[in-house]
Amino acid sequence: MKLEGKVALITGGSSGIGEGVARHLASQGAHVVIADIDDARGKEVAADIGGKFIHADVSEATDSSAAVAFAVSAFGGLHVAHLNAGVTSWCSMGDDFDPEAYRKAMRINLDGVVYGIAAARPAIIASGGGTIVATASMAGLVAVPFDPIYSANKHAVVGLVRSIGDLYAAEGVKVHALCPSFAYTNIIKGSEQMLLDMGFPILDVSDVVDAFQRIIDADSTGECWYVIAGRESEPFRFRHAPGPRLD
Ligand SMILES: NC(=O)c1ccc[n+]([C@@H]2O[C@H](COP(=O)([O-])OP(=O)(O)OC[C@H]3O[C@@H](n4cnc5c(N)ncnc54)[C@H](O)[C@@H]3O)[C@@H](O)[C@H]2O)c1
Repeated sequence: MKLEGKVALITGGSSGIGEGVARHLASQGAHVVIADIDDARGKEVAADIGGKFIHADVSEATDSSAAVAFAVSAFGGLHVAHLNAGVTSWCSMGDDFDPEAYRKAMRINLDGVVYGIAAARPAIIASGGGTIVATASMAGLVAVPFDPIYSANKHAVVGLVRSIGDLYAAEGVKVHALCPSFAYTNIIKGSEQMLLDMGFPILDVSDVVDAFQRIIDADSTGECWYVIAGRESEPFRFRHAPGPRLD
């Protein structure tokens, strides 16, 4: 997809990965709308790149619809939706399980993507086609014992993307999941040394932005792209689950 003149909506675009993607897309000539709950930072980034900002809490379906409507009315269509807003949950599955922390993480990391896809799909079809990229995580591809609820909602995003890729293909809408390993953003602030000590190299946001561009350039759909230090980002190859034995 040539990005010049295209319209992109980025949730969680006020900082980190979303901000990096917003700046990259604007540098390629796209019209960018940032949707976030961090108004101050989001407005600053939007002004800096000649884009627009809308306050939107992705865990509310109405906010997701309003963000899409805003992008369409501001720039005349929608071609790229980066559904990226997310939080860590640090919700224990032990004795101190907290149902509120659980629901909050699921509302933002899973509902936010579901509502975002439901809102963006018709707008992208009406604009002649485009790409939805949901930010999942490597935590959606592997077990994460220190944050199992985060792993659960990111696995859910991976399952959703794999399931709707082919469904949307005939409508001209591609859907992919972006699955980074740890990257230097606010989300890991304070844990950097612990992660390095555990043997996890930390990505620069620019590595994740490069992977995002590879996704935009890809012909495929319904794929989940790992982003790991020292490797080219590629779609993760899932093993086939065994079928029934009929003998
Ligand atoms: N940084 C990492 O190590 C890493 C690794 C894998 C996946 N991810 C995923 O990348 C995405 C972006 O995170 P990041 O690392 O850039 O962190 P970040 O904290 O810098 O960015 C997250 C953004 O989401 C926004 N946000 C939070 N709740 C929201 C809500 N309810 N509605 C709208 N916006 C909301 C925040 O205000 C912030 O601007 C997340 O989905 C995260 O799970 C991050």
